[in-house]
Amino acid sequence: MRRAIYPGSFDPVTNGHLDIIERGCKLFDEIIIAILINPEKRPFFTIEERRQILEEVLKGIERGTCGLRVDNFEGLLVHYAVAQQAHAIVRGIRAISDYEYELQMALMNRRLEPSIETVFMMPAEKYSYVSSRLVKEVFQLGGELQGLVPPLVEQRMKETRATGQ
Ligand code: PNS
Repeated sequence: MRRAIYPGSFDPVTNGHLDIIERGCKLFDEIIIAILINPEKRPFFTIEERRQILEEVLKGIERGTCGLRVDNFEGLLVHYAVAQQAHAIVRGIRAISDYEYELQMALMNRRLEPSIETVFMMPAEKYSYVSSRLVKEVFQLGGELQGLVPPLVEQRMKETRATGQ
C-alpha cells in the first residue's frame, strides 16, 4: 500500500493540480490531498470551501484504483505525513523557477524526516503556466478562466464575489 500526500493551498484548485493528481494515481495506491491551514494568508476560499470544492471535482478525474482523500493540516508537513503513514510527498514542478524553492523544501523535509521521499511530477505543458495566484488575479480583473480551473471553481468564485465576501 503506497500512500502519498499531495499538499498545498489549493486556493483554488486548478486543472494543473488535477493533472498532477491523475498522474500520481498511476504511482500510488492512495493520495491524500492535504490543504495547509495557514493563518497568515488571507485566502479567497475558506478551508471548508476548498475541501468541498476538491471533493466535488475529484469525482470527475481518472483515478484507476487509487484512493483519493481530502484533508487539512497545520504545522510541519512531515509530521502530518508520518502521522498519516505516508511514504511520499508529491509536488508539481511547472518550470525551473519552481525547482529552486521546491528543492529547498524537499531537502529540508528530508532532513526533518528521512523516511519520506518527495516525488516531483510535471503537469501537461498546457498547464505549465497555471497557478492559483494567477487564476485569482485574472479572475479579479475580469479575465476568462475556462480551461484553467474546473467549471465548479469558476462558478464558486463568481458566487463568492457576488456575495461580497
Ligand atoms: O501550494 P503551496 O502553497 O505552494 O504549498 C506549500 C506547502 C503547503 C507545501 C508548504 O508551505 C508546506 O509544506 N507548509 C507546511 C509547513 C512546513 O512543513 N514547512 C517546512 C517546509 S520545508
